[in-house]
Amino acid sequence: MSIVNFYQGESIPLELHKVRIVQKLSLVPVERRLAAIAEAGNNTFLLKNNDVFLDMLTDSGVNAMSDRQLAAMMEADDSYAGSATFTKLEARINDIFGKKYVLPAHQGRACENIISQAFVRPGTIVPMNYHFTTSKAHVVINGGAVEELIIDEGTAVTSDHPFKGNMDTGKLAALIEQHGADKIAFVRIETGTNLIGGQPHSLANLREIRRVCDRYGVIIVFDASLLADNLHFIKTREPECKDMTIRQISRAIADLTDIIYFSARKLGCARGGVICTNSEEAYLKMRELVTLYEGFLTYGGMSVREIEAIAVGLDETMDEDMVSQGPQFIAFMVEELAKRGVPVITPPGGLGCHIDARRFLPHVPQQQYTAAALAAAVYLAGGIRGMERGTMSEARDEQGNETFAKMELVRLAMPRRVFTLSQVKYAVDRIAWLYDNRALVGGLAFTEEPKLLRFFFGKLAPVSGWQAELAAKFRQDFGESL
Ligand code: F0G
Repeated sequence: MSIVNFYQGESIPLELHKVRIVQKLSLVPVERRLAAIAEAGNNTFLLKNNDVFLDMLTDSGVNAMSDRQLAAMMEADDSYAGSATFTKLEARINDIFGKKYVLPAHQGRACENIISQAFVRPGTIVPMNYHFTTSKAHVVINGGAVEELIIDEGTAVTSDHPFKGNMDTGKLAALIEQHGADKIAFVRIETGTNLIGGQPHSLANLREIRRVCDRYGVIIVFDASLLADNLHFIKTREPECKDMTIRQISRAIADLTDIIYFSARKLGCARGGVICTNSEEAYLKMRELVTLYEGFLTYGGMSVREIEAIAVGLDETMDEDMVSQGPQFIAFMVEELAKRGVPVITPPGGLGCHIDARRFLPHVPQQQYTAAALAAAVYLAGGIRGMERGTMSEARDEQGNETFAKMELVRLAMPRRVFTLSQVKYAVDRIAWLYDNRALVGGLAFTEEPKLLRFFFGKLAPVSGWQAELAAKFRQDFGESL
């Protein structure tokens, strides 16, 4: 967003868009929230939207669309083969990323399926700055192994490092030396690194990674799902890029990569997925998999309306006002929470605001799912739906023991251009209240525990009567207020 100073000195992010379509929300009383979280088995994935006031579960597929995107959707060319809509997307990708070959897929993980099937073989390794759940699963299912080479500051909860998503290139070179380049399927770089709090990498780091990969003849696969946020951070935190346009930074990044893919549920504010490359050989390897798993090459499992929206959305992402909105709202939320003593991940990243559940609830052990307990409590306090990112998201080992997560986080995602600043202030207020009453919050235990991806469908119950006590305290403090 442009810099607009308030005459009276206040420093708040200003929305450079106006709302032209609205959706009514309901804020249900705390008594209903108490019942709703029990019905959902204390798993925020299982809450019904009618019981949710601020849906901060994810930024995936829920970003606000623009008037230009909606208009473009009306003129989509629906045909099985040769759709003019796909040609528009190809042209946009050529223009922004300078990549000639474009492959469509129905979402980000579908791109990961195709790339992993094409390049991962049993016994190969995929070094990454950090894994994402679906990207790791696709490497592993094809017999590969993931090696995380994030810099040490990357997993420090509080830090002032501007690029916590950087890869340690010394470790990358050592890993390739140790195993030999032929054992490396590809190097995967995730921009706006999701699981460590939406933290960015720098352009300089990517250039260094390219140098190492060129030395050994290894290819770089770039997950651009969270590129919008990372572009903002490169522009504002990397001095050599401050005079570059967002378009120039995007192109500089793309030129350092061999294959780019992204979830268009995030990048481009629509729903879908795209892979692109300049390598004809890589393209031909992946092309047959697209037709096998997704659909014909000119729609790839997506509605052509969504493809129109992605093409316009990508163009709109090449705008500083657009890419800065999310990070600036997140920075506001992080700073306001920090002022009230709430432990948050710093510096603020993209995607959302991340609360450190271990410091918020030091009395709740990881065996009782600290982050899941906090996510349930945040819902009780304000009808705010976040996502657990801790031990509940891990899987048990082969002996059935818990694998404790390195970090216990509650992610409060900030879908782009969706919430107003007063809604964000409300979230800050209710979380600050919860922090002052944190002694009342207890742990959770599984009542139903699926073997696979338990965080999606697992159900838990409080280990004591803490939730009813917390609801009673809310009523006492807020009176009749919702
Ligand atoms: N890569 C990254 C960095 C992601 O954050 C996601 C999805 C994917 C790939 C997979 O894309 O959902 O379109 O299949 N992240 C979502 C989230 C699910 O809530 O953070 P997808």
